[in-house]
Amino acid sequence: MKLDNKIILIALLALLTTKLYAEPVSGYEYIKPETRTMQDDDFSNPGLLAVDRGQELFNKKYETDKTCSDCHGKEGEMFNKKRLARYPMYRNRSNEIITLQKRIRNCQATITENPLQTDHPDLISLETFVRNRAHGEIVNIQTEGPVAEEIKEGEKLYTTRYGLIDMSCQHCHDFYPGQMIRGQKISQGQANGFPAYRLATGEMANLHLRIQQCMTLLRAEPFATDSKEIEQLGLYLMSRSNGLAIETPAVRY
Ligand code: HEC
Ligand code: HEC
Repeated sequence: MKLDNKIILIALLALLTTKLYAEPVSGYEYIKPETRTMQDDDFSNPGLLAVDRGQELFNKKYETDKTCSDCHGKEGEMFNKKRLARYPMYRNRSNEIITLQKRIRNCQATITENPLQTDHPDLISLETFVRNRAHGEIVNIQTEGPVAEEIKEGEKLYTTRYGLIDMSCQHCHDFYPGQMIRGQKISQGQANGFPAYRLATGEMANLHLRIQQCMTLLRAEPFATDSKEIEQLGLYLMSRSNGLAIETPAVRY
């Protein structure tokens, strides 16, 4: 039997035995018990170092003598958690997906000549700190109106096959959650834990980096940083996580 037919057969079986459009389940439910313990313990969760680093940067004086905390509070306590849980959002005025990182950088650009490049480790630390302010808040991506078109594009990318492995995101994350692959349990590929600490790399990954890492796994050329595609796919993934609690910083393999 050709590999293609095998995949179709397995997918059909999966369809019959499980509900395809199951409720979202956090990656937390798929990790090992000891990894869950690590995530839950403030002393052993390595992601909290990024939160601390983010808070340091949040209180750092720029050349204009301003800090983020001037306007948002030392602990970021002036942020509206419900609003943070809506990122990435869509700005109708400019027809643009606004990721949390982009929002942070836009604010940064008002107080320094040198805002950080996308996915710079310091920007990921700031992103982790800000997102962590909304820990426990329910992901609430808006899906109505012009944003629906972007989400639909993201879904198309999610169901497209990539790379030498010639599989789509959907194959693993909708059809095979719970199955083992190279010693790891495949999850639904939810976005509620990001930015997350990865034990495999010893680094923080935000959602876009995690997408790129999965594309590399498929031996595909990952979508470029700042590309339309990575933003649409990230938006779609986060919209799939609507209803899940924000876990940032999650700990994942
Ligand atoms: C001079 C004041 C000021 C400074 C300094 C500032 N911000 Fe902001 N920030 C704002 C305002 C005003 C908004 C818009 C709030 C709104 O739309 O209600 C905002 C919005 C945001 C948002 C989006 C919040 C939301 O509810 O959608 C984030 C995240 C953010 N800022 C992060 C930062 C970070 C990180 C820094 C430092 C690099 C920073 N800001 C520096 C004034 C500031
Ligand atoms: C061959 C199977 C496979 C395919 C195809 C695949 N992934 Fe993954 N993905 C994994 C594995 C294994 C992990 C790590 C375990 C887990 O969390 O599922 C993972 C993790 C993730 C996570 C992190 C989930 C969490 O809770 O930490 C996201 C997000 C993700 N993948 C997105 C994608 C996207 C987007 C695509 C398509 C471009 C994709 N994956 C394609 C196997 C796959």
